[in-house]
Amino acid sequence: MNNSHIRPDGRLDRQAAIDAYHDTRARTAALFDLVDGAAYYERPIPLRHPLVFYEGHIPAFSVNCFLKKGLGHAGIDRDLEVLFARGIDPSDRQAAASSAIDSWPDRGTVQRYAREADRVILETLENGVIEGDANPVLSRGQGVFTMLEHEVMHQETLLYMWHRLPLERKRRPAGADPLLAGAAPARERVLVPAGGATLGSDVDDVPFGWDNEFPTCVVQEVPAFEIERHNVTNQDYLAFVDAGGYANREVWTPAAWRRRQEAGREHPLFWERRAGGWTWRGMFERLPLPLSWPVYVTHDEAAAYATWKGLRLPSEAEFHRAAYGTPGGAERPQPWGAGAPDATRGNFDFRHWDAVPVGSYPAGASAWGVHDLVGNGWEWTSTVFHGFPGFAAMASYPEYSADFFDGEHFVAKGASPATGRGLVRRSFRNWFRPHYPYVYATFRCARDAR
Ligand code: AVJ
Ligand code: FE
Repeated sequence: MNNSHIRPDGRLDRQAAIDAYHDTRARTAALFDLVDGAAYYERPIPLRHPLVFYEGHIPAFSVNCFLKKGLGHAGIDRDLEVLFARGIDPSDRQAAASSAIDSWPDRGTVQRYAREADRVILETLENGVIEGDANPVLSRGQGVFTMLEHEVMHQETLLYMWHRLPLERKRRPAGADPLLAGAAPARERVLVPAGGATLGSDVDDVPFGWDNEFPTCVVQEVPAFEIERHNVTNQDYLAFVDAGGYANREVWTPAAWRRRQEAGREHPLFWERRAGGWTWRGMFERLPLPLSWPVYVTHDEAAAYATWKGLRLPSEAEFHRAAYGTPGGAERPQPWGAGAPDATRGNFDFRHWDAVPVGSYPAGASAWGVHDLVGNGWEWTSTVFHGFPGFAAMASYPEYSADFFDGEHFVAKGASPATGRGLVRRSFRNWFRPHYPYVYATFRCARDAR
């Protein structure tokens, strides 16, 4: 389901919203079905709540931000709506431990709550007032989109969390074989000449966007730069690891070096050293290090590699130039043009459980011939996450972005294998702490043109 189906002509299409709600809930249920129920109270990511939180958080968030805020609904269960209101983003394990909750409800209680939330939400989508000017949450259907896209984002959270579960805790679905074929292509950089970039969006240009996507932010002149045609692969990154990159203090910033030491990080989290050499921890199996896959690393690791190469990460504006700019000066809605984000354009929307070789989607390349800008892994930028000039917090969930404008998060662009296609739009911005190692995030290097 694509967002434009929900608001085809400026009004919400009830049936499309109902269909999207059903589809989204079904996908979440299918993701929970991949996991052994015995893991329900485990915290595969020590910096996040256990699985139980997410099964409750998704419906509780919908009730809080759509039904209660938008329609003045009384809610379904006050205690659960407080318990499940928000996730956590602690800076370290100590902060995570202090935000731990000792007693979570049993699964039956959570699932009964979720079923009741579904019932009330669907009844509202059928018959209620779901859009209007009486309340900013209902303006342009913001509440409905907030609910739907929030769940899609958490489907990605679930997957990168499932990734950390012991393999025997997961049921491998049919057709989940990883794609290993292909040698890493030769490293090449593409010259992107100086020109403008349009970041963000006008409210009128998208069916929905989160608050940090508004308003449009035009960067008049991005100086000419070079950017790599493909993401940095495991093969490329192996050279850095073998050269002692994790012991080479000079290529890490002082803060990144301290974070690296505190985490004891000696290699990418997705890599495991086995007797026979490096392996990659895939979603359902361990694989000999797939040399042609993009490496998944933290911002700190990406920046250290780039520094070692005498290069740097691209800024958010440079990413936009490389992805959406054209030699003629016009900007495209997607790297490949105006076509829908279908299966030919990139590895997103759960097409694969893991990465695929870089350069697998020539039909998704940008006007400059840069590959995989959308899909196969979020792309780190050097840009610290902030609101664009004129930023205003959204009514349905004012904490969404503003709580993270703290100088400690970096913008990531594009999409990963676990990013729903509804989120594949130019203005969408993601962000994480520079040492958060769990996300499917990769990078490519850039430098000033000379
Ligand atoms: C936008 C992906 C960074 O998962 O922390 C979910 C999205 N915000 N619930 C996150 C989010 C509230 C957020 N990211
Ligand atoms: Fe959330």
